[in-house]
Amino acid sequence: MIQGKIDNLNHYQHHHDMRTSTILLILAGAGIPAVTLLFSGCTKEGPMGANGKDANSTCTECHTTSDSIAARIFQYDASRHASGSLTYTGTNNACAPCHTSQGFDEVIVSNADTTLIGVSNAAPINCRTCHNIHKTYTLADYGLKITDPFMARFNDTVSINMKVNNGSSNLCGRCHQAIKPSPFPDKPTSDADSLTIASSSWGPHYGPQALIFAGSGAFQIGATSFGNSPHKDSLSCSSCHMAPALGNFTGGHTMKMTSAVTGSNIAPCKACHLTASSFNINNKRTVITGMYNQLKRQQAEANILDTTSMQIKAGKKYSQKQLAVLWNFLMVAYDRSMGVHNYQYIHDMLQSGIDYYTARGY
Ligand code: HEC
Ligand code: HEC
Ligand code: HEC
Ligand code: HEC
Ligand code: HEC
Ligand code: HEC
Repeated sequence: MIQGKIDNLNHYQHHHDMRTSTILLILAGAGIPAVTLLFSGCTKEGPMGANGKDANSTCTECHTTSDSIAARIFQYDASRHASGSLTYTGTNNACAPCHTSQGFDEVIVSNADTTLIGVSNAAPINCRTCHNIHKTYTLADYGLKITDPFMARFNDTVSINMKVNNGSSNLCGRCHQAIKPSPFPDKPTSDADSLTIASSSWGPHYGPQALIFAGSGAFQIGATSFGNSPHKDSLSCSSCHMAPALGNFTGGHTMKMTSAVTGSNIAPCKACHLTASSFNINNKRTVITGMYNQLKRQQAEANILDTTSMQIKAGKKYSQKQLAVLWNFLMVAYDRSMGVHNYQYIHDMLQSGIDYYTARGY
């Protein structure tokens, strides 16, 4: 599909007369007078005025004979972003901000949690969702669209700022963060206060990775405050997920860490964990998996977690502290790095939950 567009582009360059009207529209969007193209574009590489600027010359900062775009499209097409498997949810204005390109464009300007209305003709996340493609029509358009710190959805007074690599993780984090469900525990350490949960999908939503990475979003329910591993101060999401690509299997714009063919991509880990042979550095993923299974069992016995659906048993009252423990547990479940993103934080989240249930005999 995307490759088809590029084929069309070659088409423009060689037979632009067939597509002139489209090009005129594109150029009008770029603020480039169409007449420039009509004169300079008809004769290929025609003579240029002394200080004049050939509109086509900026296009060729990217659209050259090189494979640089093709390579990214090749990787990107294999990514889950490109699958657009959830783009259909974009007709709902609560889902459009993260599941459609147009919705993301709207909320990074409005700073709202929803779009005004659902998005029709929704586009999946694509090159122009993250980059400024065709904004100035220069190479600078490969810059990321937004890298500013942002206010978290779970609490709009909490600012998230992942500074490494000029804030590139803040782009990912706007979507890869928890959503605030209703009701939301406002006294998370209270066992006296309870809330009724109506929906079995109560929880932080599926992609809270940036909060875990930044060490935010969990309820501090134990006696000691949660710690953080040093990853957040020395790495960006792209350091690991966009490590040099192995074809279209891992790294680059596939953003994948693992593939069936190449296995786990531990190349980016080895820069620091010199002897790493898997993601299970110092056996810490095994430690987290054990803790995760223990808290899962305890919450099943406490009759709050349905371990088949991995959802809350709805239609009942729970103490705010039980909900806080479950929230932390689901954050770890949906994060899916099993300790890699922020080992100490994930450890402490699980430990405080285990302590809570152990003290109650589970
Ligand atoms: C920053 C690099 C860059 C520059 C500069 C650039 N393009 Fe593109 N262009 C792209 C990328 C990347 C795509 C692929 C977008 C996709 O497939 O989603 C693309 C796609 C296209 C397409 C296919 C249709 C579409 O919009 O997807 C056309 C036509 C096009 N560019 C024309 C131009 C013209 C004309 C200029 C100069 C006025 C220009 N481009 C400048 C990067 C660039
Ligand atoms: C704050 C951004 C955000 C919003 C808003 C959002 N989602 Fe998501 N959603 C995500 C991300 C990110 C993922 C992918 C997480 C991953 O794969 O780890 C995802 C994944 C999903 C999944 C896939 C779960 C799976 O098991 O693979 C479903 C279903 C889903 N979202 C539905 C919705 C619906 C329905 C709405 C609107 C009511 C919505 N989302 C709103 C960010 C969001
Ligand atoms: C989900 C967000 C996202 C999407 C979608 C995306 N990119 Fe990127 N792209 C990035 C990030 C992040 C970087 C790395 C920036 C960094 O680490 O400095 C990058 C880097 C690049 C670079 C290298 C730029 C440079 O200055 O060296 C190119 C070229 C590029 N992307 C092209 C594309 C193309 C073409 C597409 C569509 C097929 C695309 N990107 C889709 C996020 C994205
Ligand atoms: C516009 C919102 C948005 C942005 C920005 C974004 N993502 Fe995503 N990401 C999603 C959604 C939604 C999915 C699930 C897509 C689907 O299935 O339709 C996803 C899926 C993924 C997956 C695959 C998860 C799986 O289940 O295999 C990875 C890895 C990922 N994103 C990493 C990143 C990284 C790294 C960045 C920043 C460079 C980023 N994302 C930026 C919304 C976003
Ligand atoms: C230290 C390297 C590292 C950093 C930094 C990192 N991740 Fe991950 N991430 C991983 C590993 C390893 C996994 C587990 C992959 C596996 O088990 O195959 C993972 C899992 C994920 C997943 C689940 C889907 C998948 O690919 O397994 C998503 C989505 C994700 N990370 C997004 C992000 C986002 C967004 C950021 C930045 C906020 C980030 N990651 C930062 C290494 C990293
Ligand atoms: C920029 C350097 C750097 C990179 C790259 C890096 N890490 Fe780390 N990582 C660290 C540091 C420093 C620690 C803290 C070690 C400690 O506390 O003993 C750490 C801790 C960890 C821990 C917890 C280990 C423990 O004993 O506490 C795990 C698990 C981990 N990293 C996994 C990964 C994986 C998997 C990758 C690659 C996908 C990766 N790291 C990439 C620097 C890095």
